[in-house]
Amino acid sequence: MESPARCPVIHFDHNSPEHSADPAGSYRKIRESVKVGWTEAHGGYWVLSDYASVFDAARDDEVFSSRRTEYGGEGLSVVIPKTPHHDHIPIELDPPEFRKYRKIVNPISAPAAVEKMKAMVDRHVAGFIDSVIENGKCDLTSVIGVPSIVTIEWLGLDVSEWRRYSGAHFQVLAGIPGTPEHTQAVEVDFPYLAERIRQRITERRADPEDDIISYLVQQEVDGKPLDDHDTFAIVDLLISGGVGTTASLVSNSLGWLARNPDVRQRLIDDPSLMDHAVEEFLRYFSPTQALARTVMRDTDFHGCPMKKGDRALLSWSSANRDPQLFDSPDEVDIDRWPNRHTAFGIGVHRCAGSHLGRYMSHALISQVLQRMPDYRVDVDALEPYPRQGVNSGYQRIPATFTPGKRTLTDYTLM
Ligand code: HEM
Repeated sequence: MESPARCPVIHFDHNSPEHSADPAGSYRKIRESVKVGWTEAHGGYWVLSDYASVFDAARDDEVFSSRRTEYGGEGLSVVIPKTPHHDHIPIELDPPEFRKYRKIVNPISAPAAVEKMKAMVDRHVAGFIDSVIENGKCDLTSVIGVPSIVTIEWLGLDVSEWRRYSGAHFQVLAGIPGTPEHTQAVEVDFPYLAERIRQRITERRADPEDDIISYLVQQEVDGKPLDDHDTFAIVDLLISGGVGTTASLVSNSLGWLARNPDVRQRLIDDPSLMDHAVEEFLRYFSPTQALARTVMRDTDFHGCPMKKGDRALLSWSSANRDPQLFDSPDEVDIDRWPNRHTAFGIGVHRCAGSHLGRYMSHALISQVLQRMPDYRVDVDALEPYPRQGVNSGYQRIPATFTPGKRTLTDYTLM
């Protein structure tokens, strides 16, 4: 094999079992040595691990493009390797085209819009906890289905199918290609769900209701109504962004709080600490670990010779542990403030759902602490996601707690 023209070369694969066993340690090695390095995994890509390089790349859309190109294979452009997937808008667009679509997404995800969703979120949180509270034991990951059901209801899709949306997206982001579950998601669930979304788009064009799909089909780009392709691409991205990330954050946070009872007690005694705590959990766990760009022209970037067409992985999670920016970065300090973490990304693509993600996380963690204050997690039986390269978290959190009473009389969990 020809020796790579890129240097420095590192041995790294964010999708490997070795990386998944200790993502923070794996990134630390790069951050403490080369900072930016080239790996031959998945056809070759640059790994950006320190805050400064991630920050600079994320703010330079001309050189570091998010759109689909002929480089690095076919499929979703913001992950490595690219996965076969429908277009996602606006995340796979660059300015100026990008702005026309982000303008459409901003009003539905702004603080004022989230304010109107709070009662719906709170109801699902209460209902999910009700479904396990009398048992005294549960898999806490069942409780973190809330972000999925909220997203599906908000969009105007069929709420009874929330588990299928959630499972399929989980498999694509954190499952292992070739396993029966992954194959089922890619070959059966996604085509089925795509058809269901398309049907709903058609229905809402004919007969709008008070939901996000109805809003989207009434928007215009360049003076023309948003077409079915673009509407679908936005809806599918909102599902992708909505279902996994918040669940990942909450699963990690609840797992950590179970092992750190002093901090848990502080949060129970003084709920006003929760806002800063959620920001610190975002920094420390970085649910979206890293996303990709494509280099659009030859450039010398932080001392590295990048070539047009190279792929680059921007590690939000590694930037979040950079000691240049954060004191004692490998410790959770719920009082850390200011906290300029990169968990929601940086630059024009910064997370559109950050306000919703924050609210759902806050509501879930607070309600679990209030209603199951003594929950204990069987740490040996914790099951992390099989791959932690894109999304980190747990797929099983067996917990026991003192049983409590249900709060809602009119809620049935589907
Ligand atoms: C804890 C929760 C969340 C985390 C950690 C997170 C993380 C991120 C990150 C890192 C990006 C940047 C992507 C890039 O630069 O390529 C992003 C973008 C995005 N997120 Fe989130 N997200 C969260 C919750 C949500 C929710 C709840 C939604 C919607 C329901 C959402 C929708 C989006 C969308 C639409 C984008 C693309 C924005 C654009 O391209 O302009 N996210 N998110």
